[in-house]
Amino acid sequence: MTQTATAPPTFLERLTGRRHAVRTSKDVVVLHGVTKRYPNGRVALRDVDLVVPEGDFVFLVGPSGAGKSTLMRLLIRDELASKGHVVVDGNDLSHLRRSDVPRIRRKIGVVFQDFKLLPRKTVRENVAFALEVTGTKRALVGPAVDRVLALVGLTGQANQLPNQLSGGEQQRTAIARALVHDPRLIIADEPTGNLDPVISWELIQLLLRINELGVTILMATHDAEVVTALRKRVVALEDGRVIRDETGATYHQAD
Ligand SMILES: Nc1ncnc2c1ncn2[C@@H]1O[C@H](COP(=O)(O)OP(=O)(O)OP(=O)(O)O)[C@@H](O)[C@H]1O
Ligand SMILES: [Mg+2]
Repeated sequence: MTQTATAPPTFLERLTGRRHAVRTSKDVVVLHGVTKRYPNGRVALRDVDLVVPEGDFVFLVGPSGAGKSTLMRLLIRDELASKGHVVVDGNDLSHLRRSDVPRIRRKIGVVFQDFKLLPRKTVRENVAFALEVTGTKRALVGPAVDRVLALVGLTGQANQLPNQLSGGEQQRTAIARALVHDPRLIIADEPTGNLDPVISWELIQLLLRINELGVTILMATHDAEVVTALRKRVVALEDGRVIRDETGATYHQAD
């Protein structure tokens, strides 16, 4: 079977303009009736339904303890749902074979508040490492790393160590690392939580550009100003329930 003619373009193809972006109507994330009860009895999600179509930019908001990080942990199969279905790019995570987990994980780029970079590796090595551990051919690693570093504006810092970078540059390194696998989805858990407002805005602009290239983005945040300014889709959790799911929305519910 020849796949080359009909397969959707990869992120790197869209990035380099070698093929035109194709929007499909596929849903990247589907949560259906999802409840998460932790072993200590704490219920973090209650009967959550959520559908995120490809290309969406979704802000996940809600007070501390509402269940935002738990929802993201279910998507990367860090935790399993106690009830209901979590489906990523058509794969039901509760019925996944162990051997399929790495393949699904590579569809999702993850960005955390605290960057989680390897301190003894340079920017370039941090990003390359993400590919090397999955057995990517050596000849492909260099060009892929160069492209994502250019996208996030870190070509000039490629040989610096994380402690030689500003907070914003560290977070952009983390985004480059998340992108290098050509993910369908980026999940960002309070990515601007440790950044000052100006740098936060730069990071958000970068995520918007990545989204324009066709990558679906789900971002948990407490930043009311950013959410309200952008009028994207807002999914609000409270005590584990979705209490609002609105497009073109503000951080707080409009009356
Ligand atoms: N591993 C765990 N074991 C038991 N309870 C947990 C665990 N992780 C989270 N919880 C609980 O689940 C609930 C939801 O937590 P979660 O971290 O998902 O909230 P959050 O919305 O991300 O909050 P924040 O805005 O503070 O990051 C909280 O009551 C929390 O105490
Ligand atoms: Mg959290």
